Formats: sequence, C-alpha cells, structure tokens
Amino acid sequence: MFFIDFAGNRLLFAIIASLHVFINHALAIGAYPVVTLLEYRAWRKGDTGRDELAYKITFVLFIVTTTAGALTGVGIWFSASLIAPFAIGSLLRVFFWGWFIEWIVFISEVVLILIYFLTWKRMSQGAGKKAHIGIGVILSVFSWLTMAIIVGILGFMMGSGHWPQDKSFFSAFFNPIYLPQLAFRTTYAMGVAGLCVWFLLYFFTSKGSSLRAGAVRFVSKWMLLWVIPFVAACLWYWNVIPDAMAANIDVALLTQRFMHWHSNLATIMIVTIAALILVAAAGLVRPKLIQSALLLIPFVLGIWLLGHFERVREFIRKPYVIADYMYSSGVRQSELPVFQRDGILKYATYVSHHRITSENTVDAGKDVFVVACSRCHTTSGINGMVSKFSDLYGDGPWDKDAMTAFVYSMHTSRTFMPPFPGNDREAEALVAYLKSLQTQHEYIISAQNSWTVRPIDQSE
Ligand code: HEC
Repeated sequence: MFFIDFAGNRLLFAIIASLHVFINHALAIGAYPVVTLLEYRAWRKGDTGRDELAYKITFVLFIVTTTAGALTGVGIWFSASLIAPFAIGSLLRVFFWGWFIEWIVFISEVVLILIYFLTWKRMSQGAGKKAHIGIGVILSVFSWLTMAIIVGILGFMMGSGHWPQDKSFFSAFFNPIYLPQLAFRTTYAMGVAGLCVWFLLYFFTSKGSSLRAGAVRFVSKWMLLWVIPFVAACLWYWNVIPDAMAANIDVALLTQRFMHWHSNLATIMIVTIAALILVAAAGLVRPKLIQSALLLIPFVLGIWLLGHFERVREFIRKPYVIADYMYSSGVRQSELPVFQRDGILKYATYVSHHRITSENTVDAGKDVFVVACSRCHTTSGINGMVSKFSDLYGDGPWDKDAMTAFVYSMHTSRTFMPPFPGNDREAEALVAYLKSLQTQHEYIISAQNSWTVRPIDQSE
C-alpha cells in the first residue's frame, strides 16, 4: 500500500481535493452562471464593454477549469485509489451507473467549456449571440449536474440510509444527507463565485471606471442573493448529520489539542460569513469603496471556509470511510471478527509479511501499522505515533502492556478511531514496532544533538 510518512496520506489527498473542490465550486459551478448572466445583461443593454469583460473573465475560467480543475479532478482518483483502494472499489460497485453517467456529463462539460469560450467572438451578432448565451446556460447546468451526481456519493459515505438493508442504487444515491448537502454546496458555489468574478474583474477594468462600478454592483447583488439560501442550507445540513457524527465535531473542528479553542472558532466562522455579507453590501452601495488589495481578505476567508467545511465533513464520519459499512482503515465491518480471529496480515494484499515469526516481529508490526493505522497516522510526522504515544506515556520507555491495552480499546475511548482489526499476535507485533520507533526517534535526536551525522538503519 501507498504510504507517505512525513506528512501523511490524508494531507496529500486533502491538498488535491481541496484545490479541486474550490476550483470546481467557485469557478465551474458558480462562475459560469455569473458570466453567462453578465453576457446576457450586456447583450440586453447593447453594452460591448461589459460583453468584452465577461469574455476576458471567461478566458481565465476556461484556462483554470480545463487545466488545474481537470487535473486535480483526476488526481483525486489516483490518490484515492492509492490510499484507500478498498473504499474506492466498494463505491465503484455501488455507484457504477452513477459514475458512468457522471463521466459522460463531465466530458460534455469540458467540451461545452471549450465551445463556450472559443465561439464567443464568432457568435457575437443577432441570433448567434442568443445561441451563445444558450450554450452558457447549458454549460452552467452541466457543471452543476456533475456536482449533483458526486454529492450522492459523498452523502452516502456519511449516511448510507436504507442501503445496508436493500442494497439498491437509489437508496444509496438518495441518502438522507443528499439534498441538504447539495443545497449547501450549490449556495456556497454561487455566492463565492460572485467574489471570484469580482476579484478577476479588477484585472480587466480600470480604477474609477463606470464599467468597473457597474460590474461590482452586479456581482454584489448576486452574492447577496445567495446569503439567505446559504445560511438556510447550512442549518438544514447540520440538522441531518447523524448524532454519532455530530459527537465528533469537537475534534473534527480543531484536533484534540486545540479543542478548547472551540468557542473562538465558532465566532471566527460567524465573523467570516458576516464579513462576506458586509463586503457584498459595501459593493452594492459604494462600488468604488473596496480596493483590489482589500478584496483579498474576503477572498481568502471564502477559501478557508470551504476548506474547513471539507475537513470537518471528512472527519466527522470517522471511524467509517463509508458509514456503517467500511472503517477508515479499509476493513469492512462484517470482516472485522474474521480479522480479529485469524489476523489481518494473512488476508492483506499489500504487505510483505503474511505470518509473524520471532525473527520478523518488528517488520511485521510495521505492516500491521501500515494497514491498520497509516490511513490516519504517520510515524513521526503529522499526527505521528511518536508524539501521540509520548503525550500519553511520557518520554521514558513506553509500557508495553499499557500500549497493548490502548490498541484494544482505542475505538471505545476515542470513538473516531476504528477497532483494531488484528489478532493478539499482531497487536504484540504492532506494539513492538511502535516501541522501536521511539528508540529510533531518540537515536535521531541524540545524533542531531551531538552534531554528528550517522547513517540510520531504516529497517530497524
Ligand atoms: C480513522 C483514522 C484513524 C485510524 C485508522 C487510527 N487512528 Fe489513532 N487517532 C486518529 C485521530 C484523528 C486521532 C486524534 C488526533 C488529534 O486530534 O490529536 C488519533 C489519536 C491517536 C492516539 C492519541 C490518543 C490520545 O488521546 O492522545 C494514539 C496513541 C493513536 N491514535 C494510535 C493509533 C493506532 C496505534 C492506530 C492503529 C492501530 C490508530 N491510532 C488508528 C485517527 C485514527
């Protein structure tokens, strides 16, 4: 299995996925309707300056969505298949036709983006212009449809609804979280797209011009239009989150260490939303007031808000990767008793040792760590084992029995962790490996302190 130790697999995935979600929501789903509307209004008023502005903004959308947007979208597939092959396999089986349709819609979306941008100048008169605006509308619908399909799968991972009983595609797709999450993402995408278009139009208009003022007023109105639907969607979404998941929210928002910041974070979130509303209102009343540098603040806040929502969504469904079906460690709930009896290494595909002997205990323990813990932990990087166990048991040699007891009970004391999916021999090997990390870590620290560089045997 694939394992990046210094930063953790989660971080690799989080970076690719967050970038993709932001480009997809703000620039594809939200911004194409905004530019289409801008084009329509320019056409109605015969305002060629505004039409040219919409065209230039579309150029940026065209470049970013078809390069970084498409690449990160495919990147999600690559990284998910490397990190969680079993989870992605299960989702493919449940949603085969959903995904099949999604790919067709996605490819159509890319083709429509190309047509919309490349025919802008050619279709600028009379009936041609009308048809061009029509292409913009169809493109906007297709961009939204790709999300509407994927959200069925994302919602399923949080709450599988009646699917465990009837195993039907429709129960899986129209899970209880589907509509609220779709409403949340749609309203977010629309609102934040206004901000992105606002940001972009500063590059293509001159300071103090009436073109800029008019366009700023237009995007401000657009943003304000989405505020109430967005807040309503947030509340709706929050209300359908299952209780067991809501219980994870404290750790999800800020990790264990910073949980006591919680009330401050709620304040920061409310202030963020209030700041975005204020900026939109200012744009409407005094379009020349907000300068481009100042706009960076709400822009960054908007990105942060989405990134944080995604983190929380990913976290609260722990210990599952697919609700009530598969743990984040890639172990199906129904397989757990078998693994706990026979050991997980015996059945594991991506390990070097299938049997533990007295010679290979530490190496086999590493395999156990990789299959059972590495989805969420590194050895000494982010959320690393050395620092986690040092927090629990101090810097002296860790107690073997206490660690073994922790491994068996980790899912009860920390409900976001799945139960240990191995047998007694494997728990022992895992602990031996974890203890070797502590020794290795001390060795590295002492080597650093004495200013000598000595080779470290990684296999130890
Ligand atoms: C589904 C993800 C996941 C898996 C799999 C997982 N953990 Fe964790 N573990 C976490 C998270 C999240 C935390 C808390 C991090 C934080 O917020 O500080 C944590 C915390 C811990 C802590 C610190 C507990 C404390 O209260 O200070 C230890 C020790 C630990 N994990 C060991 C393990 C071991 C050993 C395994 C494998 C057998 C494992 N974990 C598997 C997610 C996971």
